[in-house]
Amino acid sequence: MYLTNEEERAASGEMGEAIAAAYRILLAVGELLGARRLIRISSAHLSGVNYANIGDPGLEFLERFSSSARVSVPTTVNPCGADLYDPQPHVPRDFLERQRAIMDAYLRMGCSESFTCAPYELESNPPPGSHVSWAESSAAIFANSELGLITNRESGLSALAAAIAGKTPEGGMHLEENRRPGYALRVDPGALEHGYIDYQLVAYYAASRTSADVIAFVGLPRPPRSTIKLMAAAVGAAGPSSMFVFSDSVPPGVESESLGRDELARLREELVGRGPVDPRGSMAILGCPFYGPQELSRLGAELRGRRASPRLFVQVSRAVELAAREAAGEVRGSGATLLRCACYPLSPADEWLGASAVYADSVKAVHYLRKRGVNAYLRDAGEILRAFSHVT
Ligand code: F3S
Repeated sequence: MYLTNEEERAASGEMGEAIAAAYRILLAVGELLGARRLIRISSAHLSGVNYANIGDPGLEFLERFSSSARVSVPTTVNPCGADLYDPQPHVPRDFLERQRAIMDAYLRMGCSESFTCAPYELESNPPPGSHVSWAESSAAIFANSELGLITNRESGLSALAAAIAGKTPEGGMHLEENRRPGYALRVDPGALEHGYIDYQLVAYYAASRTSADVIAFVGLPRPPRSTIKLMAAAVGAAGPSSMFVFSDSVPPGVESESLGRDELARLREELVGRGPVDPRGSMAILGCPFYGPQELSRLGAELRGRRASPRLFVQVSRAVELAAREAAGEVRGSGATLLRCACYPLSPADEWLGASAVYADSVKAVHYLRKRGVNAYLRDAGEILRAFSHVT
């Protein structure tokens, strides 16, 4: 890969070991992608924050690395494993301490105090067409598919390296020729009986069938942004694709399949399960990916005049809580637990609470909970709310 004089100096360690390490990672990624050069990025989003995922090896690396590494572009970070702003009594003290140390390491490196998997809800997105380096598959896929940003699906490490260098290899999704559909799924809109739940199932199905970078959904009307967010998360959970588009017809020369009513019903039954939502001994998670101000406001209105179980967890960032203060107050006032900065699907929250089942309105949440052996079920948020709250 071609490096400018300045990049050569940075890679050789002239500007410090942390910057040299970042360049070594970018060069390795660039080789893999067959990139010819590095390009500037407007922002980075990092994963590798939840202590339940990165453990002590991750924490030790971050503590060491953050003593000298500094990001050089606006950089947001993924959620923690627990709410550090209002620590819940069910979270072990040891977990909280280690999670705090991870948070401090990211802040030391100059990352913003974002701790969200939906950084695009913070209203500080670069303009469409900007090149960025975003880890967190749901955010990267949303960035490519909805925001008009250009990013590969970065790993925590490659995004961190890009954040430090302010650059990324010009390969993969950064090249226009790779941003065309390589797989198309024809969907009969009449088969979608359950709104945003079915949209997620369609996305989950498509991503599990292909390794193409870009998926085209043919015949599917473009849903609202909140549904696209959930679809991006479902695609990221099920396969390696980086983007999706909505198309009227199968693009020429592209492999295509159809998703019929029966297959969709089978998938629905598999993830939704049978019987009503049973709140006894279970818990529920809303906000995967994290809610933005509008979604939080809608939930606040729905909980008005209702008493909710504290085992109804609602995930937002601190910035969104502040931006939708009134709604946050309504959610908290109902008795539900508002988590700021915490991702419970990837934490052992079910173990901390001794929950026998977990309900969520997100395919991604159910996917990862089941991967850990949890009894998890996909349900509509309205159904979850009715089961986990009552009219006062
Ligand atoms: Fe976000 Fe955690 Fe879901 S990172 S997308 S809340 S699994």
